Amino acid sequence: MSGELSPIDKAKFVAAKRSVDYVEDGMRVGLGTGSTAAWMVRCLGELVRDDGLKIRGVPSSTRTAELARDVGIEVISIDEAKWLDLTIDGADEFDGNLNLIKGGGGALLQEKIVATASDQMIVIADIGKEVEHLGAFPLPVEVIPFGWQTTRALIEELLVSMDVLGRDASLRMNGRHPYVTDEGNYILDLHLGRIGDPHQMAMVLNQMPGVVENGLFMDICDIVIIGHGNGKVET
Ligand code: 5RP
Repeated sequence: MSGELSPIDKAKFVAAKRSVDYVEDGMRVGLGTGSTAAWMVRCLGELVRDDGLKIRGVPSSTRTAELARDVGIEVISIDEAKWLDLTIDGADEFDGNLNLIKGGGGALLQEKIVATASDQMIVIADIGKEVEHLGAFPLPVEVIPFGWQTTRALIEELLVSMDVLGRDASLRMNGRHPYVTDEGNYILDLHLGRIGDPHQMAMVLNQMPGVVENGLFMDICDIVIIGHGNGKVET
């Protein structure tokens, strides 16, 4: 399945492959979004097809739902599942406390709902995602389209009073148009550089009118499986 891969793709693949060892028969599994999560969905599909693994998957985006169906995984909604045994997802950054920045792929809202409704969240990532302090990767914030420029101005004002290096919030674009999430919202990417207090940042952002969710996943992740370009995996 993996063929000839670049070191970065190999790192993502080996982390994804290791993660499916945690999946057992009968589990309801949250399926993340992004290139690393896509490898995991393909690995799970192989187990379903070749080993008769019986699972139900709850996708965190329309993209992942489509892939999961393509590889033969039974797909159910989060409300049908009610509660999940395990979620496996990628990340844009993770720190030593297993806190994350997610949403580079635009699916942070569903990803956070799915991960929070799971007994366990496993993150799969290449070694390049490990950071000492969160914030070099622009923090995605999902906002409703109504008044998004006003929301952005309020967020930039708020950042002045917080322990961050940068304060710019850019509207994520898809060509010449704003990028629209599965829920019909926009994404502001906050260029912060370094987030001094991520817990506070996550809390304060979600109190702003117009903000639906932010990409800081605090105290949600239980395990990070890290893949290296030479095929090594560590947990
Ligand atoms: C999507 C995400 C992804 O998990 C994150 O962007 C990592 O993506 P990739 O595995 O492609 O590097 O949060 O919203």
